[in-house]
Amino acid sequence: MSYDATFRVWRGDAAGGDLQTFTVEVNEGEVVLDVIHRLQATQVGDLAVRWNCKAGKCGSCSAEINGRPRLMCMTRMSTFGEDETVTVTPMRTFPVVRDLVTDVSYNYEKAAQIPAFTPRPREADGSHRMQQVDVERSQEFRKCIECFLCQDTCHVIRDHEENKAVFAGPRFLIRLAELDMHPLDVVDRKHEAQDEFGLGYCNITKCCSEVCPEGIHLTDNGIIPLKERVVDRRYDPLTWLGSKIRRR
Ligand code: SF4
Ligand code: F3S
Ligand code: FES
Repeated sequence: MSYDATFRVWRGDAAGGDLQTFTVEVNEGEVVLDVIHRLQATQVGDLAVRWNCKAGKCGSCSAEINGRPRLMCMTRMSTFGEDETVTVTPMRTFPVVRDLVTDVSYNYEKAAQIPAFTPRPREADGSHRMQQVDVERSQEFRKCIECFLCQDTCHVIRDHEENKAVFAGPRFLIRLAELDMHPLDVVDRKHEAQDEFGLGYCNITKCCSEVCPEGIHLTDNGIIPLKERVVDRRYDPLTWLGSKIRRR
């Protein structure tokens, strides 16, 4: 079963642009990326769109569909009514390169600032041992496909360009949380998280968790535990007393 859908697609570049309206064929089982590709093939050959896997795994095809940050390749057309207009715009938090393609280099800059995993020495038998619960915690965070939809959604940077210098965003707060809770990692990342990566700017709105296509519980399993660890470190009287005694 095919039908004609109305698509509004943002077209332009860093200097500006606007929404353009198209009528385009949709076939049964298709996703938004299929329709964007049909538009490219039949009506707007120079429409810029970034994609790679078409399987929800490369994190390239992030955009905003009817205002919601989503992967175009994982958004089925059956989500919308046949007479519903589908509006596709680039991620708002990042500068537009052209059409639906944004410059996400902010994210790579933040990633590069996080000190790498630094394991403690191996056991006497040459192994690294850790509890299964710790393995599973890391595995949840490691499902991240770096689509940056969580970064796009977080109001701390979405509405405040000036905060980008001091806030790493949810994707990198969970990277810090993963490493700080990792039993083999020896770097203390709590103060950095607070002072250099802007953990305190997060007011736990949980919007990042709602849009994550991998279902990662960024706030509950990463950001909130990291905040608790920062508070424990700062206000635990025994830790405080211990640090004073060690300084003598
Ligand atoms: Fe995308 Fe989820 Fe990773 Fe954020 S945490 S970049 S939403 S996969
Ligand atoms: Fe932003 Fe997620 Fe915190 S959306 S405010 S990082 S809970
Ligand atoms: Fe790879 Fe959509 S094309 S996630």
